Amino acid sequence: MCGIVGYVGKRSAAEILLNGLEKLEYRGYDSAGIAVFTGSEINVKKEKGRLVNLVDALKENPLDGNTGIGHTRWATHGAPSVKNSHPHCSMTGKFAVVHNGIIENFEELRTNLKNKGYVFASETDTEVIPHLIDSCYKDNGGDFFKAVSQAIVQLEGSFALGILCQDEEDKIIAVRKDSPLIVGLGEGENYIASDIPAILSETRDVYLLSDLEIAVITKDSVKLFDLEGNPVSKEVFKVTFSENAAQKGGFEHFMLKEIHEQPEAAANTLRGRLDSSLKLHFAEMDSAVMGKIKKIHIVACGTAYHAGLVGKRAIEQLAKIPVSVELASEFRYNCPLIDEETLVIVISQSGETADTLASMRMAKSLNVPVLAITNVVGSTVSREADFVFYTYAGPEISVASTKAYTTQLVALFLFAIFAAESKKVVPQAEIDKVKTELLNIPEKLSQTLATEDAIKELSKKVFKEQNMYYLGRGLDFSTAMEGSLKLKEISYIHSEAFAGGELKHGPIALIENNTVVVAISSDGDLCAKMASNIKEVLSRGAFVIAFVNDATKATHEDCNEQIVVPTLLPLIAPLASIVPLQLFAYYVAKERGYDIDKPRNLAKSVTVE
Ligand code: F6R
Repeated sequence: MCGIVGYVGKRSAAEILLNGLEKLEYRGYDSAGIAVFTGSEINVKKEKGRLVNLVDALKENPLDGNTGIGHTRWATHGAPSVKNSHPHCSMTGKFAVVHNGIIENFEELRTNLKNKGYVFASETDTEVIPHLIDSCYKDNGGDFFKAVSQAIVQLEGSFALGILCQDEEDKIIAVRKDSPLIVGLGEGENYIASDIPAILSETRDVYLLSDLEIAVITKDSVKLFDLEGNPVSKEVFKVTFSENAAQKGGFEHFMLKEIHEQPEAAANTLRGRLDSSLKLHFAEMDSAVMGKIKKIHIVACGTAYHAGLVGKRAIEQLAKIPVSVELASEFRYNCPLIDEETLVIVISQSGETADTLASMRMAKSLNVPVLAITNVVGSTVSREADFVFYTYAGPEISVASTKAYTTQLVALFLFAIFAAESKKVVPQAEIDKVKTELLNIPEKLSQTLATEDAIKELSKKVFKEQNMYYLGRGLDFSTAMEGSLKLKEISYIHSEAFAGGELKHGPIALIENNTVVVAISSDGDLCAKMASNIKEVLSRGAFVIAFVNDATKATHEDCNEQIVVPTLLPLIAPLASIVPLQLFAYYVAKERGYDIDKPRNLAKSVTVE
């Protein structure tokens, strides 16, 4: 999704903006631009495509100045083009604006502004903002703050804004609603950014802006106000993760780095929550609240949804509470049967996904308690949910989610144990087995990484395929869905996941000579059934790659290839099974020569519907 950076200080603004935008490249974008005060004028430079195009353009025609705003755009309204890219300016050039989010009432605003004589230069929703501010500025006798506060209350939708005004040379005004924005604090210089990594090389002290808080930023001060202009005080948030954690750390891609970080990330999720004497410390929620819960809805998108499918099994098995798992984009428009005895669990790595946020708000409006499982401290989800469980996976930069998924699984297992111990409906010995297994997870995840070389070789055999099908039963079906999503999003190979038992109901028609089938079989109780499904596709000429463990490998010796992962309790097994599938997707995409960390058409954080 789009990225914002802003700088006001004494150094070259363009350099800092470009540096920050580069750190936000992972969010996905199709054009980039900056606006800088050069003397007392605002000058803008924008380019379509990669940031390097903008860098080259600025080499030819530099923008020298110490105050500026920058943006990487991911098109929503209007195609990717120079004219649609940000910053957008008011007609007179007095205001320059960068914007993340979507203005839902832009057509109505545009008509009104056109009637007032404003001429539009782009097809974007964003362009109404600088014109509207300009119009409010005239109505308020040239008061920048009042113009912004009066304009933003007319905007429907979501926004994070960085705004320059030609009449106030060394100032940025920043404000957000339903789209992330932070203010970075320096010495004689200050910053804005849509995400911490953008300014981490500059400062670790930030303000996490709340909705409709207006930040007035100069090089020597950051003042926060509410819409009426009353001062707002806020605690400085200290960023604790290392700059290196936001960089590639020696790996060729963020995705590979993040796959390798999974043992440590899982250890961080467990830390302080499950001790070696098997005592659970689930401080995120009160067991009295849990005791009243009779039904759970897990709501999420994409990979987080797949984590939810595993969570359902864990909660139902250990706590005997019925769980439904729903896509946030569907849940928000359904009429779910929820009441005070229902718990809604939203899962979101970023904590900013529009559909997940909307679902959470819908649940809250119905007085239903919401537990958020998220990775991003201070994210919108974390601020609005009743209870928050942080996964502490560290920043996930790769668009394809890996360590976020495994840590979401760990979080859900811990929650299932918490629910089980609140409900006391299964013997403690059964719960303790799961706890013991979880404590070993960081080490087991390290062992799964030993499959890497074999997978690298395997991917060379199949990377030219146009289709691959994933098969699994029970929890392996959830793993198959996640493995298939990883493959399609970064290798652009068409891929679908099927439950083994569904093959005969249609999908088997797709199997022909040499069709690649990825079979996941981690459960000794289900492997005989999987073996039958595998035989069905083998006999029709499929090339079958089986991801197995010591408990199941003997049953699947007839497969063309086998990758063996550590054996875990069947309930926990998805944690081990997914790692080689992530590596498989990675190496297939690498063989195909694709831009793995920035797959086409995708964005890291989907903050629009
Ligand atoms: C896939 C992927 C997406 C996200 C989805 C939800 O690799 O990353 O499917 O899982 O967009 O994002 P969050 O978890 O940030 O709400």
